[in-house]
Amino acid sequence: MSASYFQKGILLAGGLGTRLDPTTRAVNKQLLPVYDKPLVYYPLSTLLLAGIRDVLLISAPGDVPSFERLLGDGSQLGISIRYAVQDRPRGLAEALLIGRDFVGPEHVALALGDNVFFGPAWHEVLARSCRREHGATVFAYRVAEPSHYGVVELDGGGRPVSIEEKPAGPKSDLAVTGLYFYDNRALEIAAGLQPSARGELEITDVNRGYLAEGMLHVEPLAGDVTWLDTGTHDALWQASNLVQAAQARLGGKVCCPEEIAYAQGLIDAAQLERLAANSPGEYGQYLQRLPKD
Ligand code: TTP
Repeated sequence: MSASYFQKGILLAGGLGTRLDPTTRAVNKQLLPVYDKPLVYYPLSTLLLAGIRDVLLISAPGDVPSFERLLGDGSQLGISIRYAVQDRPRGLAEALLIGRDFVGPEHVALALGDNVFFGPAWHEVLARSCRREHGATVFAYRVAEPSHYGVVELDGGGRPVSIEEKPAGPKSDLAVTGLYFYDNRALEIAAGLQPSARGELEITDVNRGYLAEGMLHVEPLAGDVTWLDTGTHDALWQASNLVQAAQARLGGKVCCPEEIAYAQGLIDAAQLERLAANSPGEYGQYLQRLPKD
């Protein structure tokens, strides 16, 4: 297997969470539970599974301390987690401006803090995307209401022909999900963006920049990967239900960062034991019970 080009990941966990008011009035959306763990564990798991070892978490100034309390410097998981602030939500693409020095000359994965992915094929889809040296990769998921999302239209060969942000008349039912793999060109494209009509630096415009250059790859996600958005009360509730059902069927947890870190050899059995001992309750008992070599 050829090497991954992706060592760095940005986890964007700011936003206003207006659709979840009043739940999000005192608590950042990404700290709310999805069944048995905070929402941010899910995109963090995705980054870990993709082999990312260096994470920059961006959130609102008042919320960064809570994330630091939850995730520390990442060393407990065998990775590095650093923090940066976005003083107000100016759009997803601003992550690439805030993270400029962090990314340096490298590739970067950008994960939205409220997107949940899991399923048996997910690891392989991520591995394939990380081996792509040039361009951008986005992941498309068939949805009932595409006009709520960025929408990508594919030609017969699976190549993207258009990408539009929340279109009134969507050209397909393929939503662009909240995970993006970029080569270093993304930093330049983001630096040249102007705010959209809604006043945001749009990630869709970064993706359109790649599309214009013929460098946008789209991975359509099929039934063996589940994608859940958690932006509304119904979606958040459904996500908890689905995770609960998936875990009951699996007899294990999905998106458990400690388990992934151990499986990837980032931490040893003794460290996993320590993490288990530090987590009172069912979650810690689960870590305790994990088979260790
Ligand atoms: P959204 O769901 O678009 O926005 P939101 O979380 O503020 O919710 P609402 O629309 O109900 O007000 O954001 C998607 C993800 O990106 C979410 O994880 C929050 C994050 N985000 C930022 O961190 N900074 C930003 O500037 C924006 C727009 C979003």
